[in-house]
Parts: sequence; C-alpha cells; structure tokens
Amino acid sequence: MSDAHTFSRRHILGLADLSVDDIELILQTAESFKEISQRSIKKVPTLRGKTVINLFFEPSTRTRLSFEIAAKRLSADTFSISSVDSSAVKGETLVDTARNLAAMNPDCIIIRHSRSGVPGLLARHVKASVINAGDGAHEHPSQALLDLMTVREHKGRIQGLKVAIIGDITHSRVAHSNIIGFSKMGAEVRVAGPATLMPPGVAAMGAMVCSSVRAAVADADVVMALRVQQERQFDPLLPSLREYAIFYGITPELMALARPDAIIMHPGPVNRGVELTPALADGSRSVILDQVTNGVAVRMALLYLVAG
Ligand code: CP
Repeated sequence: MSDAHTFSRRHILGLADLSVDDIELILQTAESFKEISQRSIKKVPTLRGKTVINLFFEPSTRTRLSFEIAAKRLSADTFSISSVDSSAVKGETLVDTARNLAAMNPDCIIIRHSRSGVPGLLARHVKASVINAGDGAHEHPSQALLDLMTVREHKGRIQGLKVAIIGDITHSRVAHSNIIGFSKMGAEVRVAGPATLMPPGVAAMGAMVCSSVRAAVADADVVMALRVQQERQFDPLLPSLREYAIFYGITPELMALARPDAIIMHPGPVNRGVELTPALADGSRSVILDQVTNGVAVRMALLYLVAG
C-alpha cells in the first residue's frame, strides 16, 4: 500500500471499483477491528451518532446479521427493513423508497437486492453512503473482502497463491467479486464448473477457465466451492443436484490433488453433500466459520471507512 493511502470512496458497490490500495486499507482496518469482537465488552464509540439502515430485499443470514452486529459494535444506530415489511409490497418504486430513506438523513444504507445494479441506482439518488450487500448475479463485495482476509490470515499472503473456484460461475456474485479481488491482489484464479454455467467473459475478469475440477484443484492453495442456487434447480442449464455432486462436488479424493496445506472455503449457506462432503465442511481444512467471523470485522471496516 502506498504511504498514507486515504480512502476516498463514498460507496462500496463492487470490487471492480476498488484499487489494490483500497483493498489493502480495508483488510488492514478489518484486521485491527477483529480484536474488538474478542473483548468481553464488544463495543467502541467510533460511529456514535451515525445512522445505518439495512435494506434487504432478499433472504440473508450471514450478511444481514454481520452488518448489523458490525454497526452496533461501532455504536451506530441501526435499523433494518426487508422486502416483506417495506412499502415495496404496496407498489412503491425503488427510487421512491430511496428518496424516502434519504429524507430521514441516514449516513449509510446497506442494500441486498435480487437485481444487478440496484445498489448503483440507489447511490445516484441518496446522499448517504451505499454498501452493496449482494446484487443479483453482479457483485458481493463484502463477501470477497472477508474471503481475502481469511486467506491472508491462514496463508500469510495472497500474492502468488493458486485459488480454485468451483461451481456456477455465471450466476454467482460471490465468484465475480472473488475473481476480481483475488486477481487484483496477485493470486492465480482458476475456475471450473458446468460448461453451461461458465460465462464467456470470465477470462477478461482475470480467471483461468479449467476444463475439469481436477485441473482447477491440482496444486491449489485455496479451494472455494460455490453455493448451488437451489432456487435454480429446475433450470435446464444446471445438472440435477445428484449429478452436480458427482461431477463438481469437492471430495477428499479431489482435495488430495491440492497442496497438502490447502484450505476449503464456502460463502454459505452450504448444501451438504452437494457442493462438498460434510466431512470436508466440518474438517480441519475448512475455514468456513472463520469466513463468518471475519465478515463482522470486514463490515466494521467498511462502515468505518465510508461513514466514520
Ligand atoms: N454469504 C452470504 O451472502 O450468505 P447470506 O446469504 O446468508 O447473507
């Protein structure tokens, strides 16, 4: 990171918008915040008097709760609203919702939406900082940042590592943000999955497309299984879950091809026995719960950097 890099982004919409210095500053800030969550009194006054709104138009366990916990640990006032209890169900447009939220003068709005580009649209209509908590098949920046933090914690570096991402690359916002993020930070990113779910532009994002899962995993330092989006299970582009597990599921036999100290990651929620075997999900190489722990620290860093 260049000396005294200052964070000048008002919004966090995607890894594509962040420089290497921005990512480095976010990771360093998250690493320094992590300790707060290990104290008996898990609260600092950093964002006292700031207002954070969580606007979730799609289900979420990890992202929603960890943004809420992050804001509370920094002493911000937090408010949450979901699609079922917002006036969107009465036909209010997103831009009208945004203008009404802006009228209450929040400092930060965190949004998850099933449509790609909605956080960007919101950012054009409000004064508050907007953080993308996952938009359609576009990006999930805080997930990729917590993944980068977790890899660096376990491997001591990101530069030069071989990272294999396995699954539905087309529809995975986690994959898109991670391909961009790990490539920017100097890792070799390999992707593998059903050919019908491999987007044509993936090489331009910085990933090497492998012809098989075995080729992607061979000698890898990090193996990341993506969630099979069960809501798409009747999509003709996706093999049946059984077929998926046979051809693309991560097994101990596949992991034997990776480096002996390779770690296993998954953004959650895990479909046990589909994306990876339960023994691997719970085994000593799995860092899945470390990802969740680091999610709080990364989200504290993001809130601090955009609203602090
Ligand atoms: N990884 C992730 O986005 O999980 P949630 O959908 O539970 O937030």
